[in-house]
Amino acid sequence: MFKEGLLKGKRILITGGGTGLGKEIASRYLQLGAEVWIAGRRGAVLDSCSNELTEKYGGTVKTHPVDIRDAQAVDAMVQRIWDEAGPLTGLVNNAAGNFISPTKDLTPNGFNAIANIVFHGSFYVTHAVGKRWIEGKHKGSVISILVTWVHTGSPYVVPSAMSKAGLHVMTKSLAVEWGRYGIRLNAIAPGPFPTEGASKRLRPDGSFEDGASRNPMRRIGDMPELQNLATFLMADGCEWLTGETIAVDGAGYLANGGSFAELDKLTDADWDQMRAKIKAQNDKDRAGRSA
Ligand code: HXC
Repeated sequence: MFKEGLLKGKRILITGGGTGLGKEIASRYLQLGAEVWIAGRRGAVLDSCSNELTEKYGGTVKTHPVDIRDAQAVDAMVQRIWDEAGPLTGLVNNAAGNFISPTKDLTPNGFNAIANIVFHGSFYVTHAVGKRWIEGKHKGSVISILVTWVHTGSPYVVPSAMSKAGLHVMTKSLAVEWGRYGIRLNAIAPGPFPTEGASKRLRPDGSFEDGASRNPMRRIGDMPELQNLATFLMADGCEWLTGETIAVDGAGYLANGGSFAELDKLTDADWDQMRAKIKAQNDKDRAGRSA
């Protein structure tokens, strides 16, 4: 779909770039000639992703272990990139956290676990990169990976829906405030593109494919569709496109509204099982983190 070398000369940071959608986007950017930086909490996962992608496509994938909930660590990461490689040309706010839970059962810590990653963390990264762009008079492009719940809300994932709605508004606000610096901000709201991180926490019973039958196009997302949109928004040639959140979901949210309303039928015992499965995935991931 895109010409070879389309992203040559671009230097792009992708948070949560070692797994899931972030890794898929990193892979396409690298293929098209960008220098890619991936950040995430698990150093070993980042390194193995970097090795895998550079073996396949050549080029450069640099890694930086970071927890984006830590504003100082975020600033140090961005400074390291500027010092070692020069200014970024693009940022993808992809890192996220989420799990399904009845909202009445959330503790403040549970709410914060998600809001601190999605809402606060994505702001810290955008701010650390944006202020350097403005100071150095560089143009830049930010893409935030959101979800169609920013339009509809969604039950059982309230901290995520609230946090992502905040980033939707950040996208619009900063598109205006930073437009005069040549900095643009857009967002992608994907429908279901199943990845391990999302499936294990949002559909721990394995029911992700069910959404396909209710989608107007009768299917879930095909990963290149997301990669292509992320490439289009990052490439030169559409600089006037800013402040937009673009859904790529086969018109799923227009037809069905938010996800998860069907979880109303779960019993307390079902929820106990869901929580145990999500906990097992969280424990597995945590074992791979150094901090
Ligand atoms: C209720 C839960 C819970 C659950 C955790 N908590 N899981 N509460 N139900 N199933 C609570 C804990 O009890 C604790 O509160 C608090 O959350 C913090 O838990 P930790 O496990 O210590 O947190 P941490 O290790 O920091 O992990 C953060 C995380 C985890 C968000 C909980 O899931 C994570 O790291 N996720 C990253 C990857 C991810 O989630 N990917 C999916 C993204 S999908 P207490 O009070 O007990 O201390 C997405 C949108 C997809 O974003 C859209 C698809 C259409």
